[in-house]
Amino acid sequence: MPAENAKWWKTGVIYQIYPRSFQDSNHDGVGDLRGIIDRLPYLVELGVDAIWLSPIFTSPMADFGYDIADYTGVDPLFGNLADLDSLIDAGRRNHLKLILDLVPNHTSDQHSWFVESRASRDNPKRDWYIWRDAAPDGGPPNNWLSEFGGSGWEFDSSTNQYYYHTFLSAQPDLNWRNPAVREAMHDVMRFWLRRGVDGFRVDAVWYLIKDDQFRNNPVNPDFRPGELPRDALIPLYTADLPEVHDAIGGMRRVLDEFPDRVLLGEIYLPIDRLVAYYGRKLDGVHFPYNFALLTAKWEARSIAQLIDEYEAALPPGGWPNWVLGNHDRPRLATRVGPNQVRVAAMLLMTLRGTPTLYYGDEIGMQQAAILPEQVRDPFEKNVPGIGIGRDGCRTPMQWDGTKSAGFSDADPWLPVGGNFREVNVNSLSKDRGSLYWLYRRLIDLRRKHIALAEGSYKPLMASGELLLFYRELREERVLIALNMGPEPIAVSFPDERVSGYVLLSAFADREGEAVSAKLDLRGNEGLLMKLDSDRRAN
Ligand code: GLC
Repeated sequence: MPAENAKWWKTGVIYQIYPRSFQDSNHDGVGDLRGIIDRLPYLVELGVDAIWLSPIFTSPMADFGYDIADYTGVDPLFGNLADLDSLIDAGRRNHLKLILDLVPNHTSDQHSWFVESRASRDNPKRDWYIWRDAAPDGGPPNNWLSEFGGSGWEFDSSTNQYYYHTFLSAQPDLNWRNPAVREAMHDVMRFWLRRGVDGFRVDAVWYLIKDDQFRNNPVNPDFRPGELPRDALIPLYTADLPEVHDAIGGMRRVLDEFPDRVLLGEIYLPIDRLVAYYGRKLDGVHFPYNFALLTAKWEARSIAQLIDEYEAALPPGGWPNWVLGNHDRPRLATRVGPNQVRVAAMLLMTLRGTPTLYYGDEIGMQQAAILPEQVRDPFEKNVPGIGIGRDGCRTPMQWDGTKSAGFSDADPWLPVGGNFREVNVNSLSKDRGSLYWLYRRLIDLRRKHIALAEGSYKPLMASGELLLFYRELREERVLIALNMGPEPIAVSFPDERVSGYVLLSAFADREGEAVSAKLDLRGNEGLLMKLDSDRRAN
């Protein structure tokens, strides 16, 4: 039973779907909304509580939907508004919440707002975007860089000015200093909230406000050739500006006009700056996504330190969250290696805070090898060859061992991962010892044991390959032991009076085993143990 006031987005598990790659229903090789509806029973069985959909809005697809031409339309590639309504309804019937992707920082250059804005210098929408005169030498107004390579400024010859784009030149940035822009985006939010969506994941939200004096960004002294070109500068004047919190506060107020909705922020910043996005009075996003594990060294001590740092930095009442994969970063199974995927699953599902699970990670999909002629990602096209390509983590969901992995009966837009004949939902769901079943059990245990969903986090030990911690709420205590290496570990608890039993092993073969002062962990094993509630055993 959830405790009083436990919100669904705190106790639940969020599942991220990259719609192009989940399920194709109309034979064009691209996933769509009907396909997602058809696959809802799978998500219900897996036990997740909410779906976050990467953008499904009208888009020329220069950045596969993160370039929006109409915020309140569904792109025909994915279906139509009626399909989205059906998804909302079907979700509701199955107790699945639906979170949409809100992309407020930029539009597509095909959006009517931008078409108007670039039409003339005195167009009423001119100031909806960021226009500047050339520098005296005719070049870009300042040194600001695009995240996706090259200058952040694009020259528009018809009006003889530059516009700013944090990402592609086909993704001009909106001017969030203009109140009309804020109002327009608030109306977009209301449109979807009224239709029944349960909230938004807000894209690139730490970029919303730029310096109003357009000062040059400082040079990064640590930059080395071969690194991401944008890292040549420190984004002092283009990201994480203090005024951004006011803009986010405005969005939050709109969200709060509707009961029980959630606002989640995509923010890549160090922990100390990240936590400011909860807002001074917890009036910012409900949580800024915590991506720290995406780049953490996979080692017990580093991870324990990172958890401690994050827990300590959270503002009072700020709810934590954890992420191990998304559509921008290399696949988890490839990053941690096949032997550690189970331990990673256990970590994600037992840390304090909302877990977000990226589609396919529950079956251990690998980063797919993408041949040069198969590259679709504009980031990789702009900045080739340094390994930032995102296609490899966006390949079709592997449902079964048939052609195109059951994703589509046409040629899929990206190749199917090479291991799909073994690694697919159909085969893993038949094997009770599989990674898929481990996720199912973990999600189920989170539901059954309130300490896992809502309890406090108490570090116990991190040494060598061993990570030990408790989750605790009232009388309930769950002990988590993770072996982050291949060698067996014999654990002696500092407290001799520990006793309890195994809820789950990463290898699904020790359930019910008694636990006392000593514990043997096999290589790459994780264990969840319920401890006896005798308080003297503390
Ligand atoms: C976010 C998205 C990414 C996209 C970018 C521009 O970082 O996650 O996929 O390319 O914003 O919208």
